[in-house]
Amino acid sequence: MKEKLRQLKLDFSQEIKKVKSPAELEAIENKYLSRKSGLLNNILRGLKEVAKEEVAEIGAFANELKQSIVEEIELLRHKLSSGGQSTSFDFTLPGNLPPIGHLHPITEAIREIASIFGGIGFQRQRYPEVDWDYYAFETLNMPGDHPARDEWETFFIDSKPIKMNLPANSQKLVEFGKRILTPHTSSGQVREMEKGKLPIRMMNLSKCYRRQMDVSHTPMFHQFEGLVIDKDINITHLKGTVDYFVKKFFGADRTIRLRPHHFQFTEPSFEVDISCGLCHGTGRSEDLPRQSGAEAGGGKCRMCKEGWLELAGAGMVHPNVLRAGGIDSQKYSGFAFGWGVERCYTMKAGLNIDDIRLLYKNDLRFNEQF
Ligand code: DAH
Repeated sequence: MKEKLRQLKLDFSQEIKKVKSPAELEAIENKYLSRKSGLLNNILRGLKEVAKEEVAEIGAFANELKQSIVEEIELLRHKLSSGGQSTSFDFTLPGNLPPIGHLHPITEAIREIASIFGGIGFQRQRYPEVDWDYYAFETLNMPGDHPARDEWETFFIDSKPIKMNLPANSQKLVEFGKRILTPHTSSGQVREMEKGKLPIRMMNLSKCYRRQMDVSHTPMFHQFEGLVIDKDINITHLKGTVDYFVKKFFGADRTIRLRPHHFQFTEPSFEVDISCGLCHGTGRSEDLPRQSGAEAGGGKCRMCKEGWLELAGAGMVHPNVLRAGGIDSQKYSGFAFGWGVERCYTMKAGLNIDDIRLLYKNDLRFNEQF
């Protein structure tokens, strides 16, 4: 049988040399490889009669032979279809470039923010995205029945409230409450304090979830939270840090102001405003027609109306929060801020997105514009 296969190999190599057209090639392909009547299979049908110990060797030989026939036929087919030349490919032609994408604008913003704060020593930390009520509210000076909680339209996980020992103090049994999807990055504050390492200069830049969906809200969004705790930390450190970020991220000509506000977890608390990039803090627009009754210098700025844009919250860490994290509030003080990435990004780009949900629709027609 091996002899027959060898003969077939010889015959094939003679015959294929004579092939001149695709039709002849097809004929020879059928002649040798056709499953029903091909010469190769005809021979292999006799494999049943071959002695057992030879079957493996002959089988392997036949396989190799078939492979080489197939390859020769394919090679010739390619040659014939390219007009008889060995190749029709012009290597000097410029190629078709595959479309090149880019990162999602929010991913780019996240990386930029992390790198700006990284430059002044804020280390990015990660905390659970599904966390306990304890870290998101209770330790942030918002006990169970506190009305301030309503502002955080929280997603609760269907779980039973539990009591656990504190990771930092195994003697202390506390109510951890229910599990929730973190409604703000502030849930990382006490978790960071519990690590027991001071001073702290952390950044929590993560996903947040709230039960809100309309043109200006998505149920998932991002915040970046900075927390600094050390001896003698005061408001000037907060102001300097925020100002540094705003100048790096929005531009050197921007300034900030702190407006008194209220958060349960900071005292004092502030709302940070940033000077408007369009009217440079004047609230007036030179390029708009003077409106009757408007102040001298043009019409009102269409972006901000009064020179400032509301950016986000910040404040000096409340002593109750420090205590909840096991830190002596007589010796240490700190500041914190927590801002929305999407808000900062759209403000920076001067984007007036009618519907913020577009950011997460995965619609390339939208994403490709950035
Ligand atoms: N967690 C607040 C929110 O989601 C934002 C915030 C305000 C964070 C003041 C802070 C802060 O750290 O000091 O609205």
